Amino acid sequence: MSAHPDFNDRMLSLGLARVAEQAAIATVDLIGRGDEKAADQAAVNAMREQLNLLDIAGVVVIGEGERDEAPMLFIGEEVGNGNGPGVDIALDPLEGTTLTAKDMPNALTVIAMGPRGSMLHAPDVYMDKLAIGPGFAENVVTLDMSPKERVTALAKAKGCSPNDITVCVLERPRHEEMIAELRSTGAAIRLITDGDVAGVMHCAEPIQTGIDMYMGTGGAPEGVLAAAALKCMGGQIQGRLLFRNEDEKGRAAKAGITDLDKIYSLDEMVTQDVIFAATGVTSGSLLPGIKREIGFYTTETLLMRSKTGSVRRMTYRNPMH
Ligand code: FBP
Repeated sequence: MSAHPDFNDRMLSLGLARVAEQAAIATVDLIGRGDEKAADQAAVNAMREQLNLLDIAGVVVIGEGERDEAPMLFIGEEVGNGNGPGVDIALDPLEGTTLTAKDMPNALTVIAMGPRGSMLHAPDVYMDKLAIGPGFAENVVTLDMSPKERVTALAKAKGCSPNDITVCVLERPRHEEMIAELRSTGAAIRLITDGDVAGVMHCAEPIQTGIDMYMGTGGAPEGVLAAAALKCMGGQIQGRLLFRNEDEKGRAAKAGITDLDKIYSLDEMVTQDVIFAATGVTSGSLLPGIKREIGFYTTETLLMRSKTGSVRRMTYRNPMH
């Protein structure tokens, strides 16, 4: 018997899709308008409003930031109408604010929900991440390996040459050395300017996206969201929190994290079954973006349940009001 009989993932999943859809629709007039803050705020407002309609007693565990820096959807905020199971929520109302402002690919609205205690309360620091798709032996690649070793090991497991491996990496000065080492193996690199939740998710559908592996440092909250996605889609992710100063270590202490060097596996970041929804804002290789037709918006949402491994792609045509 489940330790959390109240979390009916099947019943709650459609509500979660609505939350992701409405956050995406709220950004429609801000795509390509150069205003990241306004786009983010529109998504936050809509996501919060929709979440508060759900029959849940939710707590935001991965959110817009600490209470003193984020007025809405901050870590610890209670959401939902209170008439339902206690759940933990991880969200990023607009993953890729700059991508949205510049109308570049792969901006998403993202939300995951699980029973209380199901997701790592990652502080808002960086995380070193490594992810691959499904079908490989556990730990075929690890964070302890060098980038070169990871490419070699994955190519061996796939039965191909390193030249046939494509690695997705955030384009940042901090990754220059790693990129040079990856290039020395012959692997191809898909550089992305933002949006590493999508970057990791790409590994789960390598035929469609052309990405075999994701590596590099990005936000720790995004790492937990990506782990929730892979828990549903299949694949592996490892993450190690990175701290640049005492303030960041203090954030970890506040979140109850004592082992600062720990490498988290997927099942340590997401310890129980969760549901996950993401809606495309701008078009990308995972999801098409919002489309406008006369009188309608159309969105596409990935809605997934880790308990069953089900992945739904839902098209939603919504009249403009
Ligand atoms: P925002 O949408 O909040 O701007 O985050 C985008 C993002 O690219 C994440 O996907 C990624 O984890 C993080 O920023 C990387 O941080 P940085 O820009 O500091 O390298």
